[in-house]
Order: sequence, then C-alpha cells, then structure tokens
Amino acid sequence: MSVTLFINSQVAPVAAGTSLFDAAESLGVNVPSSCRKQGKCRECLMEVFEGRECLTPPAAPEQHLKGAFRLSCCARVAADTGTIRAHTMRRATMHVEDSTMNLPPQARLDRPDPAVTRDGDRVLLDGHEIARAAGPLLGLALDLGTTTIVIRALDLETGRIVATASFENPQRFGGTDVMARIQYDTEHPGRLLQRTLLGYLSRAIAQLPINPLRIFEIVVVGNSTMRDLFLGLDVRSIGQKPYWSETETAYRTGRTATTAVTIQARELRLPCHPAARLYALPLVGGHVGGDAAACLLAVAPQLGDELVAIMDIGTNTELFMGNRHKLLAASCPAGPAFEGRAISCGMPGLDGAIEKIWLHDGDVPPSVRVIGGGRPEGVCGSGLIDLLGELRRTDRMNEFGRFEDGSSEFTIHAEAGLVFRESDINELAQAKGANVAGLLTVAKAYGITLDRLDRFYLAGGFGRHLDLAASRRIGLIPDLPIAKIAQVGNAAIEGACLALLSVSRRRALEELVKTIRHVELETDPEFFDHFVQGCQFRPIGAAKEVAS
Ligand code: FES
Repeated sequence: MSVTLFINSQVAPVAAGTSLFDAAESLGVNVPSSCRKQGKCRECLMEVFEGRECLTPPAAPEQHLKGAFRLSCCARVAADTGTIRAHTMRRATMHVEDSTMNLPPQARLDRPDPAVTRDGDRVLLDGHEIARAAGPLLGLALDLGTTTIVIRALDLETGRIVATASFENPQRFGGTDVMARIQYDTEHPGRLLQRTLLGYLSRAIAQLPINPLRIFEIVVVGNSTMRDLFLGLDVRSIGQKPYWSETETAYRTGRTATTAVTIQARELRLPCHPAARLYALPLVGGHVGGDAAACLLAVAPQLGDELVAIMDIGTNTELFMGNRHKLLAASCPAGPAFEGRAISCGMPGLDGAIEKIWLHDGDVPPSVRVIGGGRPEGVCGSGLIDLLGELRRTDRMNEFGRFEDGSSEFTIHAEAGLVFRESDINELAQAKGANVAGLLTVAKAYGITLDRLDRFYLAGGFGRHLDLAASRRIGLIPDLPIAKIAQVGNAAIEGACLALLSVSRRRALEELVKTIRHVELETDPEFFDHFVQGCQFRPIGAAKEVAS
C-alpha cells in the first residue's frame, strides 16, 4: 500500500515514512536546501494543497509556518493510502519580460552614469577606489514583489542585461499580503521572513551565469513593507496609522534627508564583491513604496502638462495620477487574486497556465492558449481577466458577477478538471473593487473625472498581457480610447535598472517623491461606495462615475 504523491507536475507512489524532500528528489524535483535536510535552513518549503492529514504533524523547526506550508525535510508520509498534492516554491521559472518595450522615450537613458566606474584597474564608487580588478563592472537590480522576486544583472558600463532570474517570494508562508507579513514579523522574533528571503536570493544570485565578485552595486525596489523587511528594519509602524515606515518617520521628523537607504551589501551577506553597496529606492509615502517610485522613474520621469495615470497592478496596486503641477499617489490592497491566488483554478503565470481564453456560442468548449503549450494546469491573471470579459461579452455572467443560467460554476477545461466558480468571481470582484476604488478616490482628490486623463499607463508583469478590451469591458481599467492606454510591463524592475545605471536619475527621483501627495484611501468617506461600484463588472470612466 502507498500514498499517491503529486509534487509539481510529477506523480509517484510513496511509502509511509518517506519525507516529502526525499520523495521529491526521487522524482527529479529540485528542492532548495543549504542544511542537508537537517531542519535548520528553512528553505525546503512546500505548499501542501491536499492530503495534509496524510503527513506527520509539524515538527519543531516548522512551528514558524502558517497555513499549508511545510518543511519538506520534516514532513513525512504517515498514512498507507491517500493522495497528497504539494508544490515547491517556484524558482527561476516565472515568465517575466526581459525588457519593457512600451516605455516612453524620455524614460530611456542615452548614456549610463552609474555610481561604479573604473580608472584603469581601479574600481571606483562615487569616485572613491573600492577595489582593483579587471573584468566587467556588474550591478544587480532587485524587484522585491509581495508575490514575485525579479533579479537582473547589468553591465554598468554598457547598460546591457547580462542575466535574469525570478522566483516566487518564499515569504508566502507568512501570509499573502503586506499586512499579514507585518503581523507575522511582529509575532515571530528572529526575522524569519528576512532570513528566508535572503537565503533564496543568495542562492538565485549564486546561480546566475556571472561572477558574483564582479557585482559592485545592488539597487533594490519594493513596497514599503517588502523593502524594509528585506533590510531588517522594524515594520510594525507600517501596519498602523499613519502607516509610516521607520525611514519615513525619520524623514518627516527631519532626521534624514531622504527615505532612500544606503548600506554595505555585505551586511545582508549577499553574494557580491565585499565592498559592494546596496541602495534601496526612496518610498513615496505610507504603503506606496520604492517599487512605485521605480515605476514612476521608468514611466514618467519628466512630467509635462498632460494628465497621466499610472496603475501598477499587483497584490498591492500602486497608483499615480497628475502632471508636473500636481502628482498624487495611493496604494490599493487588492490582494493576490489577480496573481491567480485564492482562485480555485488559479495559478501564477508559469508553464501550464491558461493565459488567453475565447468563449463560443452554445455548448462549444472554450478555446484556450496555454503558456508553454500542453495540457493546462490552471488559469493565470490575464486568463482570468479574459474569462471575465468573455463571460460578460457572451452574456453568460451579469454585471453583479452571477451566472445568468443559474449555475454556480463554468467549465473552462473539462479534461483538466478546471472550473470557474462564483466564489472565484467574488474574489476577483473584490480585488477589482479595491483597484477601482483607488482610481475613483484619487481622481476625486485631484478634482477630475477619469475621462479627463490624457494617458493611462498599465504597469506590472501581469498588466503587460492583459486584453485591453476585456479589461475595459469589466471595468478593471478606465473606459478610455485604446490610443490613450499603454501597457508598460514590469516598470518597477525597469526603474530599478535605470536607478542602477544612473546616479543623476536616482537623485532626481529622491527629489520628485518629496513633491508627491499621498492619498490615504481608507479615510475618504466615499471609498466604500467606490469599492462597491468597483466590484461590479461594467465599464468605468464616464464623468458621472466620479461625480460626488
Ligand atoms: S533542508 Fe534545510 S530545513 Fe529542510
């Protein structure tokens, strides 16, 4: 007798007493580890979706884990029959664009002016010698997303990308959104979230096809919580009004000139040159962090008179609206639904994810496009938006998110067992509602209606692949003419690269963020009305939408 174990896309019978780690190894599944299964490194995380009752209870080294997460070297099969479905944290397989094609021309650098330069074999940082070495001068740009971590290595003299990697943020064991992570970090001493992320990052950097000793500077972007957890700062204050981080408090009380943070990279023990510096981009304010600042740097470093909005859709959606005269920013806690989380058929944008869906008349099954081809395993964010748009286009779903035929689910792919439930629609409606409420509240604070926008930039790795017609139809983005909308991809990593390659750009950004007014959405008395409106699946953006 044996238990049937599914790990990632592999399956095998497993005898009682076998650890998930050993079972994964026998299936050829790579599990991160740096302690040889001793229960010490806490890197061998697995999320167990089904069959947790078939495993031994959590051991002492696993007491820090929440929800469905286990350390695979500790979790052993304890049953003789049953089914277990588990997944490792996804490493280096996320589909992230290497470069963003639609950035406006003013965002591009004519010539890098990095902090690290050379004079013969002397390596200089801000003009001061830090090493003597021949060979390329490299830098790293890190985008620390709540859900996904993206790494780019750049040649600092040419600006060329020499290596990239990405992986799922392993801090998910501490919760999926920033408030949960703050609570986790507060309740669990020992900086477990920071240590786990640093372990994964060090491994990912060491696996890049470059010599880490050639890395002389690292630039980091992340929302306020992700950035400060990474730096080992106390994040408790970000979870309470007025949501100021330690660095924002220091800046606002005149103790520092900027919310940017500069440290020696060796303080975090990342693989790089011992004299390398780490620079974390400034925060905009509250939960609007360095990733939003980086997005601004990439998309609109020089604002004009045009009214521009930038929406970076993610677990935490960031918003900018304005022009060179006035610029507002806000942060919308949308949650992870658009990343495929909390959705029964959802998954991240990996191989096996449905990214495009077409519905047909009658009982004809939907047509789908699967990343990497082959049989679908789930639906990623762009596929979910497509599906909602198609359900509305074909009148199968009403604007309140109910199926018109009275059923409670819609079959996407019968063979793969993928169904879309009304409960999934509710999750997506709430994520959309948070984004729309942000848009409407910021527009109201600015004193405009959304139809006044001259340009709408849709950012985020997921935003790059959205079908604009479906997004407008369901009211995820304003119902503006397509010519006014630009999809700019992962602008946060682009901004991180620009900051890495240009000292003048990062200094200009430090000054620009000081001029931005942060709009606290939750204090607006109409926020909830806007949220309810945003939960409906109908176009937004007409003048009457923001009239109050
Ligand atoms: S392998 Fe290190 S804790 Fe499991």
